[in-house]
Amino acid sequence: MTSKEIKIAYTEFTSLDELESKDKELAQAAIDATAQAYAPYSKFNVGAAVLFEDGVIVKGSNQENAAYPSGLCAERTALFYASASRPDKAMVAISIAAVHNGELCETPATPCGACRQVMAQYQLKSGLPMMVLLVGAHKIWKFDKVDDLLPLIFDSI
Ligand code: THU
Repeated sequence: MTSKEIKIAYTEFTSLDELESKDKELAQAAIDATAQAYAPYSKFNVGAAVLFEDGVIVKGSNQENAAYPSGLCAERTALFYASASRPDKAMVAISIAAVHNGELCETPATPCGACRQVMAQYQLKSGLPMMVLLVGAHKIWKFDKVDDLLPLIFDSI
């Protein structure tokens, strides 16, 4: 028997101004996307912004529905829109932000398992690491690749 350990590394920033300019632009796009959320039930407005290798940024937001499971998280809205509109372009990063009661959440919103799996798929499709930038009011967490949020990713069929 062998005990093994998986370590996850990420970087914490305390303000948008600490980010390099492209990351700051992506984080701001995620914050801006929260304004386009349709979240009448949870009132938890989530924004996501996907960065392509060529510099283009595509935004998405959570879209809720009276039949609750029919709604979709911001991350998957953004990722599916990104892939559907630019199928031949590689995605290299995603940023996520959440606004509740009119305020950017203090602690970053962390993506659900289904969204992590979808991120993993587009990372696999592009063949490049997908950076994940989670934006809170005074905590910004940067993960270099989806694997850091989803160790032992399923990608084997
Ligand atoms: N939500 C997201 O859009 N992304 C997340 O990372 C967490 C949760 C949405 C789903 C639902 O519309 C609302 O936030 C409350 O869970």
